[in-house]
Amino acid sequence: MPDWQALIRDIPDFPKPGVVFKDITPLLADADGYAAAVDAMAAPWRGVALDAVLAVESRGFIVGAALARALGTGFVPVRKPGKLPARVHAQDYDLEYGSDRLEIHADALSPGARVLLVDDVLATGGTLRAALALARQQGAIVVGAAVLLEISALEGRARWEPDVALEATLAC
Ligand code: PRP
Ligand code: MG
Repeated sequence: MPDWQALIRDIPDFPKPGVVFKDITPLLADADGYAAAVDAMAAPWRGVALDAVLAVESRGFIVGAALARALGTGFVPVRKPGKLPARVHAQDYDLEYGSDRLEIHADALSPGARVLLVDDVLATGGTLRAALALARQQGAIVVGAAVLLEISALEGRARWEPDVALEATLAC
């Protein structure tokens, strides 16, 4: 276990009773920890041909933008509804607690673009599956998906497409 994993803290009963929230803000605030986490996330993808990192608002942006710079790719934001200014494609999805919708600019990806999906956490997998659907809607090739932390008990991996590589830097 990398020692920077200790910088992710458990917050009980957030955002509602019974949920233990994995708070990555102490890790992000630590210069060495943030750098080590991004390096570790990038490692499986170095040398892989990629055009863009596609990351999910909002916590996914924090790791996704850093990963795009580490891997030398472009960055494509997938956002919560009503935030993107041009024409969008939308995808509804279920969350561990509630449901939501994600949007991507309709012209964000060229057909055949090679993309890496990025988020901070894989829980039920609903968010990442929505991002996968949005990328594929545009004819992109989803080379894989990278998350900093996989919450194994919520079994997102079991619902993930086995043909698409899914790398979790940490699991709990
Ligand atoms: C959290 C987290 C992941 C998602 C994981 O995002 O950042 O994106 O949940 O859950 P899932 O695998 O069950 O879909 P959230 O929607 O809470 O919002 P935020 O990133 O804006 O904080
Ligand atoms: Mg999120």
